[in-house]
Amino acid sequence: MKRFMESEDLARDRRFKRMRSQNTLMRSLPDDVTEIVRIFESIGPKLRERVSGTILEEVYDDLGPGFQFLTASGGRQSKDERTPLQLRMQLHGIFVGEIQALEAAGRTVWDFPDTPWEFKRDMARQCWDEARHVQAYEKLIEHAGGKVGEFPESTFLFDASCHDDPVLRITGVNRCLEGLACDAFRSLIDYGKNVGDDIIAQAIDFILADELTHVRFGSEWVKEMTRGDSERIARAREFQRETERSFSFGSQRELAREERLEAGFTEDELDEIESLSSGGAKQESLIRAAEILRDRHRARKNGEEVAPL
Ligand SMILES: [Fe+2]
Ligand SMILES: [Fe+2]
Repeated sequence: MKRFMESEDLARDRRFKRMRSQNTLMRSLPDDVTEIVRIFESIGPKLRERVSGTILEEVYDDLGPGFQFLTASGGRQSKDERTPLQLRMQLHGIFVGEIQALEAAGRTVWDFPDTPWEFKRDMARQCWDEARHVQAYEKLIEHAGGKVGEFPESTFLFDASCHDDPVLRITGVNRCLEGLACDAFRSLIDYGKNVGDDIIAQAIDFILADELTHVRFGSEWVKEMTRGDSERIARAREFQRETERSFSFGSQRELAREERLEAGFTEDELDEIESLSSGGAKQESLIRAAEILRDRHRARKNGEEVAPL
């Protein structure tokens, strides 16, 4: 069996539609509203093709090429509210993230035959947990009125975190990706409590407890595998920074500090993650550009003349 699998090789059934990662585009966007509008109009047909056959096709046809910034606020969800579409989109994004976490932990057992038995045992335990999470989120999607495959799947989590060095692999998967999951889950639990949805609040509370263990595996094994090797420690830290940066586009991160501290992050690391930015466009610029894109898109649909930029 092949070692070090690429995300294109991950198997999915016919329900799933794969979307190429937009991370590079997001990071290279200038903080200039007109320029963002120009770029998104030029790649509009490509974006439309990416969502075709999913529920986002309809959303694109209504809002135009900047739809994602109007529906998901650039990836950041408010604690207090979500539209039904935002909730389904977030649950679906987490569901495919859980599948990728299962695949990543499974690959980690297979890709590094020379690691200690205890390490493989922890990764196998993680696979068991992630498989349960996939099932739980599948049910939560149903609970929210959605269905598997209604949104396209982005594999950027797998791509950003699956490195061929075991230290960087667990830094990427068990600290960056799992840490990101802790933030999203904390916010969803608070949302569930706020709107009185006990199923969401309780189910995700159980899942979050597992994710803390996974982050802890990462914190402990990175420490163990880099012991006494300052160069490797520095490399892991730099990789962590890079990966966190790639997870930070468009908005300031809201970290689940309490949970992350419990799982072995230090205050300094958390301050650093919060201060990282992708260097791309600001949240306000993206939303403003998306509003202009929407108005121009609707005007065109109505047969009106739209001035070139
Ligand atoms: Fe999970
Ligand atoms: Fe996990």
